[in-house]
Amino acid sequence: MKVLVTGGAGYIGSTICSALLDQGHTPIVLDSLIRGRQEFVQDRIFYQGDIADQDLIKRIFKDHPDIYATIHCAALILVPESTANPLGYYRANVQKSLDLFDALMQVGCDRVIFSSTASLYDVVEGFSVDEASPLKPSSPYSRTKLCMELALEDFTRAYDFRAITLRYFNPIGADPKLRSGQQLERVSHALDKIIEAHTLRQNFYITGTEWPTRDGSGIRDYIHVWDLAKAHIKAVLEFDRVFSEYTTEKYRVYNLGTGNGTTVFELVQAFENVIGHPIKKELAPPRPGDVAGAYANPARANTELGWYPESSLETAIELGLKWFEKRKAFLGLTF
Ligand SMILES: NC(=O)c1ccc[n+]([C@@H]2O[C@H](COP(=O)([O-])OP(=O)(O)OC[C@H]3O[C@@H](n4cnc5c(N)ncnc54)[C@H](O)[C@@H]3O)[C@@H](O)[C@H]2O)c1
Repeated sequence: MKVLVTGGAGYIGSTICSALLDQGHTPIVLDSLIRGRQEFVQDRIFYQGDIADQDLIKRIFKDHPDIYATIHCAALILVPESTANPLGYYRANVQKSLDLFDALMQVGCDRVIFSSTASLYDVVEGFSVDEASPLKPSSPYSRTKLCMELALEDFTRAYDFRAITLRYFNPIGADPKLRSGQQLERVSHALDKIIEAHTLRQNFYITGTEWPTRDGSGIRDYIHVWDLAKAHIKAVLEFDRVFSEYTTEKYRVYNLGTGNGTTVFELVQAFENVIGHPIKKELAPPRPGDVAGAYANPARANTELGWYPESSLETAIELGLKWFEKRKAFLGLTF
């Protein structure tokens, strides 16, 4: 089965492409390389270009009329950058995605899987959220994602178009064969920061220790990127069944998380268990915009997509560590 993957030279998109290949499918990658890496698309069918280039989308579908579905991962994803430059983020994530969806409708691709984010959710008592939980996107970045969720829902009501939105929680780790992994130079996620601090023998700052969680630190749902990738394949394979069996709408949202909340202190402990010794750490106040957090209720994805995460937190940490070791030489990064 051929699947168009936008953003397929980035962290999550490239991992999805590896999982597709391993299961005998053919990813067709579209990526501008604004953040992605050429190294991740070697030996893959690759179109370098912008998702807003409608002529290019038409050419891709002319070259591959048998593309079954599109997985739309391409986006800019850095929260501080989005706060400093919201116009750029709305242009990149909203305007360009609208052009992409328009082109997909023109070529008759009516199966779209959209990468969204759990940072849309408001903080709720108990921290566990399902797809109907209240939303309160906290940054221009997450608001661009909400815009696209709403647009997709409207399009599916008006046009011959169906879409699945996947709300990812906190992706960590790397492809088990280490073909790709986190490629951004300035890492911002907790585990990446822990690995950075450990590698550079610096302090890891536990930012925010007075949240109303079991130990005061922020709570998240760390999902191995390989499990996330496999969820996309399930979403492609189960796409038609979702809309014949589970909903009368043509739009469906799924949470992709483990269902287990992990606090930052617990993440640090798991990391120390993996490496076998304590890391240097320091307590610090929360950063602007930080929230106590959330973790997934993934029951809908379990039942309807037949998807269950398989990796332990420790396995994801081990692969994350191995990837950060490899990426220095592979991508020529300093860390
Ligand atoms: N990483 C996370 O923590 C996380 C969490 C939730 C959701 N997501 C979503 O998952 C998706 C992938 O995230 P990622 O972590 O792999 O990010 P990434 O930056 O590694 O990958 C995004 C890719 O999209 C490409 N791209 C961006 N704009 C483009 C355009 N206009 N045309 C063509 N290519 C373009 C970039 O070059 C890059 O390769 C994003 O949509 C993001 O919002 C990520």
